Amino acid sequence: MSNTINATLECQNLTKTFNATDPPAKVLNGVDLTVKDGEFLVVMGASGSGKSTLLYCISGMDRPTSGSVHLQGQDLTSLSDTEMSQVRLTQMGFIFQQGYFLGNLNIRDNILLPALKAAPRATDAAIERVDNLMERFGIAEVRLHGITEVSGGQLQRASICRALASEPTVLFADEPTGALNSSMSTDVMDSLTDIHASGTTIVMVTHDPVCAARGDRVIYLRDGLLLDSRELGAWSEAHATKREDELLAWLREHGF
Ligand SMILES: Nc1ncnc2c1ncn2[C@@H]1O[C@H](COP(=O)(O)OP(=O)(O)O)[C@@H](O)[C@H]1O
Ligand SMILES: [Mg+2]
Repeated sequence: MSNTINATLECQNLTKTFNATDPPAKVLNGVDLTVKDGEFLVVMGASGSGKSTLLYCISGMDRPTSGSVHLQGQDLTSLSDTEMSQVRLTQMGFIFQQGYFLGNLNIRDNILLPALKAAPRATDAAIERVDNLMERFGIAEVRLHGITEVSGGQLQRASICRALASEPTVLFADEPTGALNSSMSTDVMDSLTDIHASGTTIVMVTHDPVCAARGDRVIYLRDGLLLDSRELGAWSEAHATKREDELLAWLREHGF
């Protein structure tokens, strides 16, 4: 039903209310959002403003209370749980602050697992893609290590590889640098910049303006409403400081 050209994700009038609390928590209050094909969209806002909830509702990890979400024209809110998990496995990649790795598998098998679940009959192709990804993101030498035998930065690069292993249409990241020091954080943002440059659509939540400055566009949430949106244009390393300063000034106008 989507009429917008080149839209990867479109959501209309999204609301989310958690009813387990008294009074119920109205966390999203009518969000309209279009993410363009190949766009790197950054979601910002104070803690508790609904950033993670928005990410979960547009990625099918949770269901909105009302409103619609379309991924490449397909209405996600009409899918069954089984259909939705198939869409997540084959078309979406996820990166979180914590890696959620399995302690009994080495790094390579952790990365491989969701790709094999997504396409059980294409084992050789998945292994080749995973090995290439680990090479590209500089973790090939730790592929047989356990998850406690690598650095935090290496682990986060492993979660990037895992998210890309099924060649997703869109990559979602919730505070991907939230647990990293600044050099590891730069490292991860360089990886995301590289992924964006190769054409993958990215939606990233962050509270860090330096990370946010990598995006094409930043949206600002307040109390579950989209307060404002700012186009940054294409990232360039040469203008990083100016870009970060301008973004910070804009964020401060919104009480950041
Ligand atoms: N499962 C839940 N049940 C009740 N309230 C929730 C639930 N998840 C999130 N919230 C509330 O929704 C608000 C927004 O949460 P969240 O989306 O995690 O914010 P952010 O990521 O911007 O910090 C918070 O006040 C939080 O307490
Ligand atoms: Mg959050």
